[in-house]
Amino acid sequence: MLTAMRQVKVPLKERSYSIFIGGGLLARLGAECAKLKLGQRCAVITDRNVGPRYARAAIASLKAAGFDPVLITVPAGETAKSLKTVQACYDELASHRLERKSFIVALGGGVVGDLAGFVAATYLRGVPFVQVPTTLLAQVDSSVGGKVGVNLKAGKNLVGAFYQPKLVLCDLDTLRTLPKREFRAGLAEVIKYGIIYDEALFERLENRLAKLLKLDAKLLGEVVARCCEIKAEVVGQDETETGLRAILNFGHTIGHAIENSFGYGKYLHGEAISIGQIAAAELSCAVLGFCGGCAERIRDLFKRAGLPTEISLTSAQRAKLLAAMKLDKKVSGGEIKFVLAEDIGKVVWGQKVPEELVVELLGGGPPDDSIP
Ligand SMILES: NC(=O)c1ccc[n+]([C@@H]2O[C@H](COP(=O)([O-])OP(=O)(O)OC[C@H]3O[C@@H](n4cnc5c(N)ncnc54)[C@H](O)[C@@H]3O)[C@@H](O)[C@H]2O)c1
Ligand SMILES: [Zn+2]
Repeated sequence: MLTAMRQVKVPLKERSYSIFIGGGLLARLGAECAKLKLGQRCAVITDRNVGPRYARAAIASLKAAGFDPVLITVPAGETAKSLKTVQACYDELASHRLERKSFIVALGGGVVGDLAGFVAATYLRGVPFVQVPTTLLAQVDSSVGGKVGVNLKAGKNLVGAFYQPKLVLCDLDTLRTLPKREFRAGLAEVIKYGIIYDEALFERLENRLAKLLKLDAKLLGEVVARCCEIKAEVVGQDETETGLRAILNFGHTIGHAIENSFGYGKYLHGEAISIGQIAAAELSCAVLGFCGGCAERIRDLFKRAGLPTEISLTSAQRAKLLAAMKLDKKVSGGEIKFVLAEDIGKVVWGQKVPEELVVELLGGGPPDDSIP
């Protein structure tokens, strides 16, 4: 498809890289990699849903540019983001004799990106890698910023590294085969960028949501590029999350707790953080005087995007959710910290919220009311 290609730079000194966004970019993968002075051998890591659709084009493009690629296909879904799959990838890389100069291409959604990035960060103490994200969530969020890792039984993303890619290639055409539910889930992160950083983006989404849901190529390109720009700006200032980068967690304290306590699978990440962002907006009204009308606008936009806006909980579920929230990485010294909104487009991080308020918001009395 012919849409203008956009370029966003992630400014991280010697680790800086470009994100390219546009239609038909998969065919340019080889040519773009050729500009990076990488070794000839490479491995394309993909999953069983993405591989059959896009691996052939990726491999052909790499071969045409003179590379010698091997294909590694892992199972699809969150459970593949495990040390077991990492081990299987190492074995394949070693059997194909990939060496220090060889590189890895992650072709898929956030699961493949996080997994392949972790493999790249650790195989031979690190080989270069390239992200080719094929979900909306991966294009606007997980492929940019260098957080890579896998899950343990004890929880999500408990093993990982900061390891930046050399290049990110967002081919918007790949989004056409993405299940609608996954696309909507990605929109939850898109809306998040509007809330945390860019009121104009939020308004744009309010005005043009229908067009975006129809995957209008020009609008999609503009929106994905703007989200990448925001993430690049935030990560460029705070790569390892000592401060500002925390704003990207808006809606994630409650969102992660929902994912955790309902088991992965019931709610997609984007669905859980849709509920989480609406809850965070309401907490912002109570704690920071965020305007009620703005909280309504936020709820409306998520609703129109086809995302869940609330959750009804039994008292036992509520207790489980609170416990999960307290286990989250964002808790220090027993207090739950939130990213809260002051305005649409402006948030503050590290806000302590009294537990009673969170409980009230989740529609309940004291947290121990489930104990008979
Ligand atoms: N590293 C980060 O900064 C970061 C940020 C956010 C999320 N994440 C991680 O990302 C993961 C979620 O990523 P996701 O939402 O992309 O999920 P995913 O990778 O599981 O992809 C969702 C589903 O869509 C399929 N798929 C992918 N692209 C497709 C396409 N173009 N056409 C048809 N099917 C396609 C996949 O096979 C999968 O079944 C989580 O593990 C999360 O922890 C990481
Ligand atoms: Zn998220």
